[in-house]
Formats: sequence, C-alpha cells, structure tokens
Amino acid sequence: MLPIEIKPGITWVGVNDRITELFEGLWTIKQEGVSYNSYLIRDEKNVVIDLCKSMLTGEYFDQLQSLVPLEKLDYVVINHMEPDHTGALRSLLKNAPQVQILGTAKTQDMLNKFYGITENVRVVKDGETINLGKHTLRFVVVPFLHWPETMMTYEENQKVLFSCDAFGSYGALNGNIFDDPGMPVDWFEEEALRYYTNIISIFPKQVRKALARLSTIPVDVVAPSHGLVWRNNPKRIISLYDTWSNLATEPADPGVTLLYASMYGNTEEMMEVVAQGIVDAGVPLNIFNVSKTPVSYILPKLYVQNGVMVGAPTYEGGLFPAISDVLKMAEAKHILHRKAAYFGSYAWLGGAAKEFTQTAETLEWEVMGALDFTGSPSREDLVRGRAFGVEFAKKLSA
Ligand code: FEO
Repeated sequence: MLPIEIKPGITWVGVNDRITELFEGLWTIKQEGVSYNSYLIRDEKNVVIDLCKSMLTGEYFDQLQSLVPLEKLDYVVINHMEPDHTGALRSLLKNAPQVQILGTAKTQDMLNKFYGITENVRVVKDGETINLGKHTLRFVVVPFLHWPETMMTYEENQKVLFSCDAFGSYGALNGNIFDDPGMPVDWFEEEALRYYTNIISIFPKQVRKALARLSTIPVDVVAPSHGLVWRNNPKRIISLYDTWSNLATEPADPGVTLLYASMYGNTEEMMEVVAQGIVDAGVPLNIFNVSKTPVSYILPKLYVQNGVMVGAPTYEGGLFPAISDVLKMAEAKHILHRKAAYFGSYAWLGGAAKEFTQTAETLEWEVMGALDFTGSPSREDLVRGRAFGVEFAKKLSA
C-alpha cells in the first residue's frame, strides 16, 4: 500500500508480509499474513518509529523515500528490538549514517548484540521528551511488552500512541489501515487475541502496569506496529487488553475447549458424543483436532474459557504426543487453573489417563473425570460419553 496519513505530519509507511508462513518461526500466519507498521513524522526533525523485517527492506525504503530522502532522517525510534521491527536497520544506517537511534538502555545493549551497532545510539529514559518542531515525542518505558527493552512512544500534540507489539494483531492490512466502520474489526480483534495469547500473555503483570500508566495519558490514536491503527475507537483495544490481562488471575468464562486426537477414529467417535453432552448442557464449545490445527489457533480459546476436555488415545503407554505438545504449550503460556477432564481409547493397556492427570497437576488444572475404553466404543460407551460431557459442562457453570 502507499503511505497513509494518520494525523498532520504523521504517516503510516508500513509494509504487508504475505510471504512468511510462521511468525517467529512458530505461529502460523500462512492465511492471514501480518503487517509491519512503521511511522514517519515529518517536522523540523524527521523521525521514523519502528521499521520492518529485513526481507521487506526494499519495499519499505521505497515507501520512506517517496516522502523523505533517507539522508534527511534525523532519528529512528526503536520501541522494540525484535527483528520483525529492526531487520531493516542496518541497511537504513548504510544509507542514512547521520541517523540517531533512540531506545532504552537495554535496546542499546541489544543493538550491539544483534547488529554490532554501537554508534549514534541515544538512550532515552522513561518520561523523557524530544521536541521535533510541531510534534513532541514522549517515551513510555514498558518492559516485557514484549521483550525487556520495550517502550512505547507517545506524540503529545496529536495524542498518538505508538505501542509496537502491544495492541497489535496478525493479519495483513487489506487496503485500509484503520478500524473504520466497514472494516473487519471483529476479525482483527480475534487476531489481536491470537497475537496476545501467542506472544504477550505470559507477562500479565507487565501488561497491567502498562495499562495503569496509559490510563493517565489521553490517547486519540493507538498505532501498533502490527495490524489495525485504532482511531475510530482506540479505547476498544485498550479495554480488550484490560480484559485479557485480567484473565491471568480471574476465572475464565464458562466454556469448553475440546482438544482431541484420534489414530483410527475410535477416540473421535467418542468425541462426537462428549461434544453432544456439552452442548446439551448449554455450554459454549470449541473443538480442535490437534493433529490438524496449529496450536496458535488453540491458545486463544484455552485462554478465555474455563473448561478443557481432552480426548486422546493411549500411545506407547502414555498420552498421544500431539496432545502432550499442546498441553506443554499451555504450560509455557501459563494457562493455569482450568477445570479439565479426559476421555480416550486404548488397545491393550491404558496409560493416557494417568499421564493426563500428572500433566494436569503441573498445569494446576482440576481433573473432574476420566473415561477410557478399549478399542472402539460400544453403544453403551457412547451413551456414557454423552452423559460424561453433560456432567462436566454442568460443573463448569457451578
Ligand atoms: Fe512484533 Fe515482539 O515483535
């Protein structure tokens, strides 16, 4: 897309990435893509805020140079060192050696470690301001949103908050960058939750601290470095972060995330009736075949719902590996204190139910039942399975 003005003198100069299949080499964005939002402020001093991944440097420089020659840039603000925002930095410095880099003390250290950059780096402190002419930048240091060096940059006159990863989402921008009426805002909100649970959610205390800081700052536009720029309803994305970060310590909503895997259809057959029982009880249900669905899409539901039903066959005396992988990721992402239950098939000797109980202990999940069976489920097993689903779902709302 061509550059888009956000406020007088402030322009989006970002790029879409429709090539990368795994963000951070881990989280699927094959269908959705992602944007690297970069912002240019043209004033007596010209500033770029955050850059892009290295592979898009050429397209990105075309964007920038259509508005300002690189040799006329005065500052580059590095809100966050992760290479999806700094990959273009070394090339930029080759073409604009006069540029001064602004970032936190930890950013200074990382600039050396990632890129060998040691010169023209100015460390800014929390609350420090830099006057550009008509615009004034204030730096708000917010560690661990997403790395320890992260900060946000606030433009005081136009009240634009450049928040980098925070308030961002997956999803390439399709023809418009704003949360305007008619834009697929709901879709971007879902992608923001996916981004939050994949990337940010293990730092809820730091998110709460940042939100407390931001509550004292009037914000007209939230301009993250991924996804939509929130000018129509900037409070919306901030309030979603409030809700999501609270879920680290408050009970999640009643609902069941049903994770299952099946080798030959026996556990899947049982899954169908367990699901039926959960729906009988009137509890929201989301079903994921973990052998098919990347964990990136599973984490958001695990995060916002209080119930987890796991269906897995016994495999080599233990839990089916694809299920173990998802549970390990839930542990890594601190998705704790859920109510859970297990069902699954075994051939000659069980083991999955036992391993599930052990894993659930690590996760501090309360196990509320287990139902295993040999081979394929009989008609009686299926009737029991449906009742098992009802009973579990009722306990979630109790
Ligand atoms: Fe968008 Fe933490 O990088």
